[in-house]
Amino acid sequence: MSDVLTIRGLTVDYPVRSGLLTSRKHRAVTDVDLTISAGQTVALVGESGSGKTSVARAIVGLAPISAGSIALSDQLLDRRGSRRLRQIRRTVQMVFQQPGGSLDPRMSVADTLEEPLHYLMHLNSRAIRARVSELLGLVGLGQQHLTRRPRELSGGQRQRVAIARAIAISPSLVICDEPTSSLDVSVQAQIINLLSRLQQELHLAYLFISHDLGVVRQIADVTAVMHLGRIVETGPTERVLDAPRDDYTRALLSAVPSIEREASAMTDTAKSISAGE
Ligand SMILES: Nc1ncnc2c1ncn2[C@@H]1O[C@H](COP(=O)(O)OP(=O)(O)O)[C@@H](O)[C@H]1O
Ligand SMILES: [Mg+2]
Repeated sequence: MSDVLTIRGLTVDYPVRSGLLTSRKHRAVTDVDLTISAGQTVALVGESGSGKTSVARAIVGLAPISAGSIALSDQLLDRRGSRRLRQIRRTVQMVFQQPGGSLDPRMSVADTLEEPLHYLMHLNSRAIRARVSELLGLVGLGQQHLTRRPRELSGGQRQRVAIARAIAISPSLVICDEPTSSLDVSVQAQIINLLSRLQQELHLAYLFISHDLGVVRQIADVTAVMHLGRIVETGPTERVLDAPRDDYTRALLSAVPSIEREASAMTDTAKSISAGE
């Protein structure tokens, strides 16, 4: 199987202004190795602030690569914005936590989906219309949604549009950064099912960033655990979740039962409310 993503020794430093004239660096990611094969799902888990989004942003060129290397489909990314580099970057697309982050509030669904087809694929208007219809079908939306703007859509529909835009130019890797954490539980399941179905139909690889270990267990082949900017453990998902080798992974997993207890307590409260108690 060929690799769609190979990260070696990635380090991400953000410049932080500490005084009027002085600046220092904040190291968000340290020496990260990560490989994703075609069609594979790799989950990146870890508490907030552990560096997950910084890894994702470095892959798509939105965070600085201070050390190490990132290759997409065996093509090494360098820091120059060459034409070839832009070609390579098209093979990876990102879906953000807040669909608002990937959608322009002023643009209709039609404009949002047409833009990458026009500017990146250089399709003519007839081919664009056909592709937009196809994309709507793939993500479970219809022609009636084309004229809507993001605020005229539900959260789940917005995330479907963001996914449609991400897959529009046929990437081989889609990075999903907590794609369901802003959604209601029932809608979360629909979006996860949609991502699974698209993966099978389009042979996509996913880098799936999440702190929902239930979802990670359901969809990820491999799970990598991040803590304080480093990957502390990587392995087949079942092995990592059922027989963690690292102390931090064990701590992360032991936090889950309490969340499940809270969820069932909430269900009890909901039951008593609906029973009129
Ligand atoms: N643009 C930025 N400038 C400076 N520091 C940042 C920036 N983005 C993130 N950080 C810091 O980098 C660390 C990792 O953040 P992030 O990658 O967003 O973690 P996660 O996605 O796991 O919550 C945090 O300490 C965060 O405050
Ligand atoms: Mg994040």
